[in-house]
Amino acid sequence: VERTLSTDNTKKMSEAICSFANDIRNTKKPGYFMIGADDNGKLDGQTFTDEQLRSYAGLRNSGTILPPPAMMVYKETFPEGEIAVIEVQPSEDTPVRYKGVIFDLDGVLCSTDELHYQSWKKITDRLGIKFDRSVNDRLRGVSRLKSLDIILEGSGKKYSEEEKLSIASEKNDIYRGLLEKMTDADCSDDVRNTLDFLHSKGVLLAVGSSSRNTPLILEKTGLRKYFNAVSDGNNITHSKPSPEVFLKAAEFIGLVPSDCLVVEDASAGIDAGYAGGFDTAAIGAAYGCE
Ligand code: BG6
Ligand code: MG
Repeated sequence: VERTLSTDNTKKMSEAICSFANDIRNTKKPGYFMIGADDNGKLDGQTFTDEQLRSYAGLRNSGTILPPPAMMVYKETFPEGEIAVIEVQPSEDTPVRYKGVIFDLDGVLCSTDELHYQSWKKITDRLGIKFDRSVNDRLRGVSRLKSLDIILEGSGKKYSEEEKLSIASEKNDIYRGLLEKMTDADCSDDVRNTLDFLHSKGVLLAVGSSSRNTPLILEKTGLRKYFNAVSDGNNITHSKPSPEVFLKAAEFIGLVPSDCLVVEDASAGIDAGYAGGFDTAAIGAAYGCE
């Protein structure tokens, strides 16, 4: 329970039961989730009221574990204390705790992060500015113009606002040229299978991306049809780490942030999810960030 992402106790329990039900999925045997003992197996002297047991049983119908596994809740009494037992039956159907999942686009649903890199690299080579993959990682989730400001930190020269707009527009032309060549094959089977799986569980799906090119990418890769809503650089005033893009995505699918998971490859995106009150899953370049 302590390893779960949520801070809310009911959600922590639901999340733990959900992971537990997944762990025992192929065992064909029930699993026993016990409360009231320490890690060393010694009872910690707790007692459980009927109301508490009913609230554990109620987790099954709380709507946070979908579909709910078959569960039975009871307590065993010993001289040293009591143990509450949640007996969970393995189910073929993997339970999912979230009602909605919001996916970042570039670097999560497809590898357009690499195309951003190639496009900026062309420009920086021409301008003689040092630009490598570690600088590129700092651009993840950040708007086009903010990205340019980060890149220009590596140049001794001061650029006017007009020059910056022209460089950003040149980069976007190169980038869109690369996007035009994208096809269905630029989205992996793993991504499609994940989206299909979540959809089959009734989980609502949204895109939350800072990119203004989101519509073009979704069209080229054939990904648009998987999503109930799209929130992107065209409907926000602040890019990540502001939570705006994710809050809008949650609003578009009619859910509150605490019912959604945000999937991100940018630390700015993880900050944005956290600031918006979402649980976050960090992958790729963001993996391991706090
Ligand atoms: C984000 C990317 O998704 O979109 C950033 O991670 C990029 O690297 C930002 O700068 C804006 O993208 P675009 O396509 O509007 O230039
Ligand atoms: Mg990204």
